[in-house]
Amino acid sequence: MPWDFGGVPPDLRTWLATPRGPMRVLIPGCGSAHELRYFAELGHAVTAIDFSDVALQVALKVAGPFSDAVVKADFFKFQPAAFDLVYERAFLCALPRSMWRAWGRRVTALVRSGGVLAGFFYFDDNRRGPPFGIAPELLERLLERFERVEDRLAAQSLAVFQGKERWQVWKRRL
Ligand SMILES: C[S@@+](CC[C@H](N)C(=O)[O-])C[C@H]1O[C@@H](n2cnc3c(N)ncnc32)[C@H](O)[C@@H]1O
Repeated sequence: MPWDFGGVPPDLRTWLATPRGPMRVLIPGCGSAHELRYFAELGHAVTAIDFSDVALQVALKVAGPFSDAVVKADFFKFQPAAFDLVYERAFLCALPRSMWRAWGRRVTALVRSGGVLAGFFYFDDNRRGPPFGIAPELLERLLERFERVEDRLAAQSLAVFQGKERWQVWKRRL
């Protein structure tokens, strides 16, 4: 899996090093869900969803004692809302561009007012994917109910994202 980081990316570790109190966290399209256990061990109430049985089999193993937090679900039909944090990594760029507006609507519905969308975004104008790169202006339009409060080149990227992956934090407006 060329997108699988195989662990917790350093930018997420850095961000979580600042105490933020217990958060209700959603990891959509979690794949192997390496971050799930890290969130859970820090005391956050985390749910990781994916609709692929192959991904879920790996995620359940990686989650160990937190396997109850791994749920088979389609992001576009998933009901629970009002998360403090939706964590993005290699999910938006895995979706066909025709689904991006729906992704924006779902993220807006799933993050509570004042909550955040944080994670990694792949910026490129490549025609073929996945991963499908996004233009910064389009991401801003999809997230018009959010304000971007952090933005920097990812500290460590896999070859497939190298030089084009940014760590960003978007705060949902009240
Ligand atoms: C490129 S992988 C990234 C996995 C993981 N986030 C990571 O960083 O390694 C994208 C994942 O999104 C899942 N996925 C795609 N569309 C989905 C949907 N509508 N609902 C839930 N999962 C979805 C796929 O099954 C796949 O595991």
